[in-house]
Amino acid sequence: MQIKEITARETWQLRRDVMWPEQSINYVQLPEDESGQHFGLYLSGELVSVVSLFVEGERAQFRKFATLPQNQGKGYGTALLQHLILQAAAQGIKQLWCNARQEKAGFYKRFGLQETNHTFGKGGKDYVVMEGSIRLPEPAVGAAE
Ligand SMILES: CC(C)(COP(=O)(O)OP(=O)(O)OC[C@H]1O[C@@H](n2cnc3c(N)ncnc32)[C@H](O)[C@@H]1OP(=O)(O)O)[C@@H](O)C(=O)NCCC(=O)NCCS
Repeated sequence: MQIKEITARETWQLRRDVMWPEQSINYVQLPEDESGQHFGLYLSGELVSVVSLFVEGERAQFRKFATLPQNQGKGYGTALLQHLILQAAAQGIKQLWCNARQEKAGFYKRFGLQETNHTFGKGGKDYVVMEGSIRLPEPAVGAAE
């Protein structure tokens, strides 16, 4: 397993195939993509999970998080999101937020995000805005010994 920064262009097909298979590629291209940071998780050279980070001062939004269906439920999304959170914390970002598909709210709670009152619908799906504070993990007690 390898996680690395990738280009926006490299995310587009996986975004489309996983999140909006009935739409064309330009549906998943974002105007903000050029200024975003994009991360990909590879298995034996194959891109299987992507997520994108958009920094807004001390806040940042992550968007377009997707794992190939045959690779879901194996911890890859968790590993990629943990990587994104560490990258964000290392850049001094204090608050992370996302527009979560309602059925994924429980997943994001495990990363310290809480549901807000802000909900909306798009493309026939229900979303809730989730947000939370992030920080680099404290070094383990006794780690230096
Ligand atoms: C959301 C998404 C990116 C998560 O990626 P993933 O690679 O499946 O993530 P994980 O495998 O780490 O976690 C998924 C679930 O499997 C569980 N899981 C994690 N590791 C596991 C393992 N080793 N074995 C079994 N289950 C595991 C997680 O606890 C999680 O459970 P939950 O959905 O009940 O919360 C993926 O489901 C996806 O692409 N969905 C479609 C697009 C989408 O909804 N994107 C997000 C929009 S908000």
